[in-house]
Amino acid sequence: PSNHHLHQSSATPRQTPPRSQTLSTRREVYERDFPLYKQPVEVGCFSLDSQRRFFNDSRQMRYYVEPERSPNFDLRDGYRERYVKRDENVKEKLDHILRWIVANRSKLKSKLSTNASCPLDFDFVTWRGHLTKLLTTPYETREGWLLAVTKFNGTLYISEVETEAACRERENCPERNKEMMYWGYKFEQYMCADDTNGEPDPSGVVNTNEAFCTVVQTRLTDHKLLFSGEVDCRDPDPGAPPPPACYVELKTSAEICTPKQRSNFHRFKLLKWWAQSFLPGVPRVVAGFRDHEGTVVSVETFQISKISQVIKNEYNCWKPTVCMNFCCDFLSFVKREATEDNPSVVYLFSWEPHNDVTYSVHRDSQYSFLPDWYIKEMTR
Ligand code: A3P
Ligand code: MG
Ligand code: MG
Repeated sequence: PSNHHLHQSSATPRQTPPRSQTLSTRREVYERDFPLYKQPVEVGCFSLDSQRRFFNDSRQMRYYVEPERSPNFDLRDGYRERYVKRDENVKEKLDHILRWIVANRSKLKSKLSTNASCPLDFDFVTWRGHLTKLLTTPYETREGWLLAVTKFNGTLYISEVETEAACRERENCPERNKEMMYWGYKFEQYMCADDTNGEPDPSGVVNTNEAFCTVVQTRLTDHKLLFSGEVDCRDPDPGAPPPPACYVELKTSAEICTPKQRSNFHRFKLLKWWAQSFLPGVPRVVAGFRDHEGTVVSVETFQISKISQVIKNEYNCWKPTVCMNFCCDFLSFVKREATEDNPSVVYLFSWEPHNDVTYSVHRDSQYSFLPDWYIKEMTR
């Protein structure tokens, strides 16, 4: 008998263990062949402006600008004077994705049904960032998560709930960390232009309300997925491949000076970078390595498809197959347990490091997240 405890064995009913209401996150359980993951296809996009207003278009798209060899970008510049930070106390849940779905319903109609109130042809709707957290779970030792799931018209919607620990951390965030969070956005400003032929404008304001998001569809084994993720910029060449292959993810990281730092970069940073970009099919990450004073000292491109090669010689390192198989089994677990089709019911899946995934059920609670306007629009 295998320890793939979630798979129904073909044994007689008497020998079948009781179906577990929990899911293991142990790495060994997920070491098997890489699951089928279809090439993600962009089905649309949307933009959020400087006031976080939704637009069903690509107005916030930015264009990648190749930097000089040693650019010396000062990431601290503008932190006090030219920084507008998104209000993290506003919980947007899936609202922007739901608005996009409502605005694009006609092109999402499943091929089989032609009536107006046909259900969406997806098993899951969520943010890319939530899936990234699932992919990295078997290797995460610090931060747990809470994922609220509601089944509505046959589709499972997954929306993150901030844990108490994450809320405390955010509220007690040291000033140094707050400033370092700005550095990542400032790097984007040095690397991007607003137009295909434009130049970056480091004298401008960094406003983290602004976002360009891609919406992609794909399939992980038998799970049909629709998710959205923020995209930093695209290749400005009009001859570049179509989205998502033309997209570029930007990252910053501390300069690597010792073998230990290199090993940590491979084992922890590259896991997160790989998971985030692999999911929507973004092929490359451009990384700015910075010193302690926040000056970018070098820029390096990582092809997502080559990251597994880069980490190969790392002892006890993460494996893409473990990430994808865990995500796949989690989605199967959700399908099996979250069965009541009711927009006011939330199945709250909960995980803390070194534990199994568990869940609880909540009716008409603080956790309900599908807005009335969405339910109304989708039941018409
Ligand atoms: P870095 O990418 O350089 O870390 P993203 O890279 O996903 O486009 O996010 C842009 C920036 O937002 C990040 O820059 C980082 O500064 C900030 N950021 C994103 N997620 C964060 C998180 N979980 N905690 C802290 N900062 C985060
Ligand atoms: Mg981004
Ligand atoms: Mg980025």
